[in-house]
Amino acid sequence: MDSPFSERELTRLRADFPILSRVGRGGKPIVYLDAAATSQKPRCVIDAESSFYEKSNGAVHRGTHLLADESSQYFEDARLKLATFIGASPEEIVWTKNATEALNLVAYALSNPGISGGAPLIGKGDRVVTTRAEHHANLVPWQLLAQRTGCEFAYLDLDPAGRIDLETLDAITPNTKIVAITHASNVSGAITNIAPIIRAAHSVGAWVVLDTCQSSAHLPLDIKAIDADFACFSGHKMAGPTGIGALYGRRELLEQLPPCLAGGSMIADVTMEKTTFQPCPERFEAGSQPVAQIHGWAVALDYLQEVGMERIHRHEQALTQYLLAGLATVKGLRVLGPDDYRERVGLVAFDFAGIHPHDVGQVLDAEDVAIRVGHHCALPLHAHYGLRASCRASLSLTSSRDDIDRLVEGLEVVRGFFLRGK
Ligand code: ALA
Repeated sequence: MDSPFSERELTRLRADFPILSRVGRGGKPIVYLDAAATSQKPRCVIDAESSFYEKSNGAVHRGTHLLADESSQYFEDARLKLATFIGASPEEIVWTKNATEALNLVAYALSNPGISGGAPLIGKGDRVVTTRAEHHANLVPWQLLAQRTGCEFAYLDLDPAGRIDLETLDAITPNTKIVAITHASNVSGAITNIAPIIRAAHSVGAWVVLDTCQSSAHLPLDIKAIDADFACFSGHKMAGPTGIGALYGRRELLEQLPPCLAGGSMIADVTMEKTTFQPCPERFEAGSQPVAQIHGWAVALDYLQEVGMERIHRHEQALTQYLLAGLATVKGLRVLGPDDYRERVGLVAFDFAGIHPHDVGQVLDAEDVAIRVGHHCALPLHAHYGLRASCRASLSLTSSRDDIDRLVEGLEVVRGFFLRGK
């Protein structure tokens, strides 16, 4: 398949990202194939953050002066922008410091006393279901929720390729309250067939929590059409700054959640005896907020939208096909996840027989090719493949065929170094 980007457009897009002209340890421009861990930032995002500090910096919703007003405006404009980007309403967006915090927010709120002091929303006799495909951020918070509340913890299992196996949907029992699933795996790259899972969850009245960390910068996303009840977002994986993420919650459900972090700005009234709380989303936004990062993320969303999410998806799919073909030429390399590029987002993890992933990563770094190595915060998924760690190349809108050629050449250097004659 062909990329919808012409050579000229791709060159222009790449020029928007200053870091792509950085030279690495080997003296060549760095090939960045680690967007699944964190995306690089276009100039407009970098400038938006510094210009915010130069001109508008103030505390949001905490003053009558011009700078506080301007900051509050940026803060709420960004909320509207993210809501529009995913097809939600602004009251359904809660700022968090990252996607992990968004998932923990839901898990902790469910075990906290109800808003007016009643019982927690989850307890003994209830069930929380996740999947073996999750990275730890969408797995450990649910294990801890089960430990805190005594609720059951269960999971959907995987087929040999690492896709969520719909044959295991019977883990979603009538007492299930939460089904937490990834939209796309950070190891197998598999795009989850979420519709049947969401239908099964809703048929028993469970709430679906969707992890979009590996999808929201790569696919068009309409959260209402998907029919997820909650979703987490990672700003730094979406061309935005670090230190910012968000939780989406269907309004009527978010309204039911008790607070998690407590402090300033989330209260309606406080006496020495009692505190009442703001409606959502403010109820979940205690303390001073990272406005510069939120504003930077809003600019990143504009940038992504201007390029076009559907076009980004097609570009990355075309390159995933090219990447899978390139990796298939390297002897001794086992690709994890589905064979068909159309079932994947643009990331491919692999195991190089007989070579530790860290050794692969180090030699590639000497070739100025940046990939991620290790367990990618997904140990149970690696165990499914009989591994403890793997190598992973991940793509973004600025990735090119040349990048993939450099990776494949680098892998031949790795082979030559560690497996000479084998
Ligand atoms: N979960 C992120 C990754 O896959 C951090 O790299």
